[in-house]
Amino acid sequence: MRKRGRMRYLVVQSDIERVLFDGPAIHKRLDEMAAQITADYPDGELTVIAILTGSLMFMSDLLRRIPLPLRLDCLSVVSYQGKPQTSGEVIFKQLAVPDVAGQDVLILDDILDTGHTLAAVREKLETAKPRSIRVCVLLSKRKQRAREVVADYIGFEIDDEFVVGYGLDFMERYRNLPYLGVLKKGLMDQSNQ
Ligand code: IMP
Ligand code: MG
Repeated sequence: MRKRGRMRYLVVQSDIERVLFDGPAIHKRLDEMAAQITADYPDGELTVIAILTGSLMFMSDLLRRIPLPLRLDCLSVVSYQGKPQTSGEVIFKQLAVPDVAGQDVLILDDILDTGHTLAAVREKLETAKPRSIRVCVLLSKRKQRAREVVADYIGFEIDDEFVVGYGLDFMERYRNLPYLGVLKKGLMDQSNQ
C-alpha cells in the first residue's frame, strides 16, 4: 500500500517542468505579506473574501499570520471549465452577495491572469457597498490583461506560464503539491486535442 502511494506521488512530480517557489520560499513571502496587511489595517476589522478553490492553501497559511480581528467568507467561482484558457465568462456558484456593507474587504485569490475573475468579483462585492475593497493575490502574471485589475498585495510576479500546486490546479489536479511549479507544456497540449 505504502509503496503504491509513493509511486503515485512521483508520477505527479514528473508532470512538473520546474519548481518556481518551494514551500519555505512561499512561507517567507507570506510572512512579509501578512506583516504588510496587518500594518495597513491598524484599527479596523477586516473582512476577507477568499475565492475558492485555488486560494485555499494561500488563504489558510496567510490568515494564520494576521493577528487582526477578521471575518472570513468564501466565494466559489468557475472561469476555466476544465480548459487551460479562461472562457472570459465568470460563473458564481452562489447567488447571494456576501453582506459586506460598511466593511473593509480584502479579496484573496490564487492568481491574477486575464483579470476576468477578480474584476467580476470586485464588481459583485461593490454592489454590497463595503467601506473599502483591496485585492490580494499570491501570483500575478506579467501580461496584457483582458480586464484591468489593480492588486494591492502581490506575492510573486511570474511570467505568463501555466503553474500548478499549492492550491492551483490543472483539470482539478496538482492542488496538493506543497510547492508552485510550471506544468509540462505537453500535458496541456494533449488535453486540448
Ligand atoms: P483570470 O480570470 O484569467 O484572471 O484567472 C483567474 C483564475 O484562473 C485563477 O483564480 C485560477 O483559478 C485560474 N488560473 C489562471 N492562471 C492559472 C495558472 O497558471 N494555473 C492554474 N490556474 C490558473
Ligand atoms: Mg482553477
